[in-house]
Amino acid sequence: MKYKAIKGTRDILPEEMFKRRYIENIARELFERWGYLPILTPVFEQTELFVRSIGETTDIVQKEMYTFLDRKGRSLTLRPEGTAPVVRAYLENNLKDFRNPTKLYYFMPMFRYERPQKGRLREFHQIGLEVLGARGPDIDAEVISILATYFEMLRISTYEVKVNTIGCRKCRASYTKKLRRYLKDSFEKLCVDCQFRYEANPMRAFDCKNRTCHSILNKAPQITDYVCDECQRHFEGVKHFLNISGTRFTVDKRLVRGFDYYEKTTFEVVSPLLGAQSAIGAGGRYDPLIADCGGEETPGIGFAIGVERLLLQLEEENVSLNSIPPVDVYVCYLGEDLLDKALEIVFNLRERGLSVDIDYAHRSLKGQFKVADRLKAKYVVVVAPEEEKMESVKVRDMNSGEEQIVKKEELAKTLMEIIHGG
Ligand code: HAM
Repeated sequence: MKYKAIKGTRDILPEEMFKRRYIENIARELFERWGYLPILTPVFEQTELFVRSIGETTDIVQKEMYTFLDRKGRSLTLRPEGTAPVVRAYLENNLKDFRNPTKLYYFMPMFRYERPQKGRLREFHQIGLEVLGARGPDIDAEVISILATYFEMLRISTYEVKVNTIGCRKCRASYTKKLRRYLKDSFEKLCVDCQFRYEANPMRAFDCKNRTCHSILNKAPQITDYVCDECQRHFEGVKHFLNISGTRFTVDKRLVRGFDYYEKTTFEVVSPLLGAQSAIGAGGRYDPLIADCGGEETPGIGFAIGVERLLLQLEEENVSLNSIPPVDVYVCYLGEDLLDKALEIVFNLRERGLSVDIDYAHRSLKGQFKVADRLKAKYVVVVAPEEEKMESVKVRDMNSGEEQIVKKEELAKTLMEIIHGG
């Protein structure tokens, strides 16, 4: 074969498309019931948007962006995440005049140049949700609890919701100094990435998977113990409202996130069934981001779920999902002469709302029946010379094997009745 899908990307075939449609439909139904509206932003944006919002020294900006120059020499980047584009769209389209707070959700592909492995792709898909313009801890609790509700609706049971606070820029400044002081003695033992993080943003070292770094960080001072009064009050509020909403959660003081735009609340849904890539969804509050993108001071919070990881989780938990639906009726014909008659039936039944197919590969009758089996057709209609003489067709119930002769003029009504009960 000449061409292959690019490493880290994959084709999503019909069987999986039906599973995705199922999880998207549940998300759509749930999110809209809670007041969130859909949005879709372009696949690429100005590179600067991501550099400024995610943060110049983050892994994503340093190593993972698909950046290219267009024909006029402008630097563009394939969206690595959805929050910054949604914020840009919010500002550009004055969405605060549309609804305030603005509650949005999206299903979008994302692109990150990461080392592909199970649950980690270079093109992946997120189901995300953002709220712009709400400052209180009550909305944090709503956002976290809608995430947990979604998992419940999907019948996922083996997961944990972890929450934390990483303080605001003010309280983080003095904490960062403390953390640097702590890490200084072990600097030589840190991995190269963490040595870089030491200067850029040492808190990010908590995210490091390296064993030595992990054990060094285990005893490090934690931001949650050093946040200012306002951030502490906010976090208490989040926990309070989460309890009111009935959402199960644990506080994980090590939960920091790999983006610069976060502040105060951070959270993650993790699964013990997913191995190294255990985060199925994650999010947090990003109060400074909108002003950083040139808007008025406006708070924001949201999350994104990785669709591929969600599907892996559903598989691990043996949750059965929709698959390709069977066709209602497969129309077979005996001899090319009867193709016109068969097609008339096909179009007529389709018009009545049934799902109907016919063999366009011009197989023998036996071959047509084989296809009907493969499509799991509920009924097969056979157009054959003998019945045709009596303006009739044979209808075979593929489940029971029973056959009956039906007048063509009554065919649609008969099939509608047996398939849909009228
Ligand atoms: P994130 O933690 O980078 O956050 O991504 C969210 C989720 O996307 C992850 O928990 C994971 O399930 C999935 N994901 C991330 N990278 C990959 C990958 N390479 N392959 C497969 N799945 C992946 C964000 O993107 C933030 N924008 C979330 C957010 C929204 N924060 C506030 N609002």
